[in-house]
Amino acid sequence: MQLRHVIESQQFTVPLLRELFARTQQMERVVARGGTLDYQSKIVATLFYQPSTRTRFSFEAAAYRLGGRVLSTEQARFFSSDVAGEQLEDTIRIVAGVSDAIVLRHDQEGGARRAALVSSVPVINAGDGQSGQHPTQALLDLYTIHRERRGLEGLSIALIGELDRGRTARSLAYLLSKFERVRIFFVSPPEVQMQPDILRHLDEHGVWYSLESDLSKVLGEVDVVYQTRIRPERLADGNVSRYALDAALLGKLKKDAVILHPLPRTVEIDPAVDADPRARYFEQAKNGLFVRMALLSLVWDGPS
Ligand code: CP
Repeated sequence: MQLRHVIESQQFTVPLLRELFARTQQMERVVARGGTLDYQSKIVATLFYQPSTRTRFSFEAAAYRLGGRVLSTEQARFFSSDVAGEQLEDTIRIVAGVSDAIVLRHDQEGGARRAALVSSVPVINAGDGQSGQHPTQALLDLYTIHRERRGLEGLSIALIGELDRGRTARSLAYLLSKFERVRIFFVSPPEVQMQPDILRHLDEHGVWYSLESDLSKVLGEVDVVYQTRIRPERLADGNVSRYALDAALLGKLKKDAVILHPLPRTVEIDPAVDADPRARYFEQAKNGLFVRMALLSLVWDGPS
């Protein structure tokens, strides 16, 4: 099964996910011994039209740990020929001519797909639009769950936050739909609940889900709490605190639950939660390096 571009979560089959996870474990060992020179001829271009800390740094670190090099534009709206009115397609043709993979974060939904149509090298979607996808984030989320829980079948998970524009939650829902007996609680104010296209996909794949607005009701039911950003200006009453996880709510969680967040966070997780052993969001972010190394190696080598 060829993995030419990484555009959306739906591309990943369970066997491909298993291969990715096996490679990711291998990359953890590679990093522990200081990296490899196996991909020293490779150049990765990171082309970002929106700000990023985790995704850009971890892709760039991934390229370096694999022995490759990086070309980067972190504010492509201002520091690329976008300023002169160049179309994305032309920019991609040029960047593809001088690199071996393009990691693209674009501010319009479908940006990565447009890029892939004209690129002569693999394009990896590092997040597109407000309610597009962020598949590499979802892959590292899934890897973290798999690593922490030793399996994905039968998992109960709460996806919490401003879900209608949550590209990480959208991508993760697609991946979760591939596993048996998964139960998904979408916890969100009704006005920003998960969009119908995702719910339709889950219906078509026979995945159990529930639309909830009361966080405290759901916390004791789930193995994984997946918090995401929520902005007061998007809520009818502006009250985001009822969706935030704080030390007082920790008692409601299962003893072996896992708390995740794609980050950056604002008020959704109180810093007092960080010391709880169930809080795994910084380990989750670190896994991004290993998963992205594995992804780069997959698009270059092809699956074994
Ligand atoms: N999770 C995530 O995509 O973070 P950045 O915006 O910092 O890349």
